[in-house]
Amino acid sequence: MTTIALYNLKGGVGKTACCVNFAYLSAADGYRTLLWDLDPQGSATFYYQVKPKLKGGIKNIITQASELEEAVMETDYEHLELIPADQSSRSLEIMLEEMKSSKKKIKHILHEFRKSYDFIFLDCPPGFSVLTENVVQASDVVLMPVIPTTLSVRTYEMVKAYFKEKDLDPAKLACFFSMVDIRKNMHNEIMEALYKDKRFFQSYIPYLSDVEKMGTHQAPVEVFAHSSYAAQCYQDLWTEIKEGVL
Ligand SMILES: Nc1ncnc2c1ncn2[C@@H]1O[C@H](COP(=O)(O)OP(=O)(O)OP(=O)(O)O)[C@@H](O)[C@H]1O
Ligand SMILES: [Mg+2]
Repeated sequence: MTTIALYNLKGGVGKTACCVNFAYLSAADGYRTLLWDLDPQGSATFYYQVKPKLKGGIKNIITQASELEEAVMETDYEHLELIPADQSSRSLEIMLEEMKSSKKKIKHILHEFRKSYDFIFLDCPPGFSVLTENVVQASDVVLMPVIPTTLSVRTYEMVKAYFKEKDLDPAKLACFFSMVDIRKNMHNEIMEALYKDKRFFQSYIPYLSDVEKMGTHQAPVEVFAHSSYAAQCYQDLWTEIKEGVL
């Protein structure tokens, strides 16, 4: 089992779009795949058109009043299952704050699944919190989309500093460029500079309207725009990530 978190301190950088597409591609490869929507916004849950069913919701999983298995839902796609966000996800961070040895809670919960899945994807909300520490502890790879702009680079530096401060393994942090517009000099210059940092995958995700259309279709790009450039970009990046982690 390999656990990959899509994370960034910064919001709106393409975490969910990537998480939804990579989870789909992983399942399409035949890997037994689980996506856990840890963001109370529930965007990944929305894209996969899944409705939560577990009574007591995520709260009961964190407090171990329910088995994690009870929260797992099927999607329309073979090999792909999902733990949806629900009303109780809003208080996830507060619940974790209040618990003892809370930093490894999600890691311990996911341990149950080590034989059930090949890949687990965690779609994370932005920010720094005890949930962030949980996610890093639980993950083999923390995958961070970075928009090549000055503010995003600043955020990237802040995330690296946070790992250091919290004594989290910096080797877990891997990055890729997201929402790239290669016509912009700034994007090109920042990418060239950051590629020297070996943390970045070569493949990147451009700013493309087919990605925005995921909201209309409520599906991964591959499903409604199989031959598109956007689908190709997600496939190329997924291939590179897979080669890096397997
Ligand atoms: N490569 C892209 N090209 C164009 N639009 C994109 C791209 N990636 C994401 N978007 C759009 O940008 C918005 C934010 O994307 P997304 O929800 O994936 O970001 P996020 O980092 O998960 O945000 P949040 O921090 O709120 O969870 C969405 O409307 C999405 O459709
Ligand atoms: Mg998101």
